[in-house]
Amino acid sequence: MTWSPATSERADAIVARYPERRSAVMPLLYLAMREEGRLTDEGMKEVGDRTGITAAQVLAAASFYTMYKREVGRHLVSVCRSISCHLLGSEAVLDAVADETGVPDGETALDGSLSVESVECIGACGGAPAIQVDYEMVEGMTPDSARALVRWLLDESPEVIRSDDLQGRFGGSPSFDPGPVDPVGAIGPFPAFGPYGTAAT
Ligand code: FES
Repeated sequence: MTWSPATSERADAIVARYPERRSAVMPLLYLAMREEGRLTDEGMKEVGDRTGITAAQVLAAASFYTMYKREVGRHLVSVCRSISCHLLGSEAVLDAVADETGVPDGETALDGSLSVESVECIGACGGAPAIQVDYEMVEGMTPDSARALVRWLLDESPEVIRSDDLQGRFGGSPSFDPGPVDPVGAIGPFPAFGPYGTAAT
């Protein structure tokens, strides 16, 4: 797949920032993922061509960092499995998510509606067990609230995911006051923040 003119132009600008064009591999992988909704073989080849590294080197970077997704559903449910969450029941939360959706850890639903993954600490240990949906946080989960959350995702397939909504509807005790309400939220199974160097301006 050929990248759109806008993505191509953005990629050229990113590559031009680095003395060695191979240094642009990570932001270009984000661009490739945004261009096609996931990281494809064609997308990685494009990154290799633009950075002058081999397909194996591109794949090595893409497969090391878990936020580069070769396959992802419309929504991504990430259940923390690190120590605080583990001690407070994340295994049961993950089991509930898998049971309610029929999607085991590390897999995507056949209809592409949702992917499930267990992840290392997502920085909400004080509100364990924590989950992210499309990288939007919700804390203080229980197996029952996790079931309700993924059922809502499957039934309503919301356009935008907002941490404040998730916390209010499904969460328990948060680790801290999150402050002002985020008016934007996540708009896809990608980080809500723009990767460095890929903003429109
Ligand atoms: S251990 Fe789960 S958020 Fe830190």
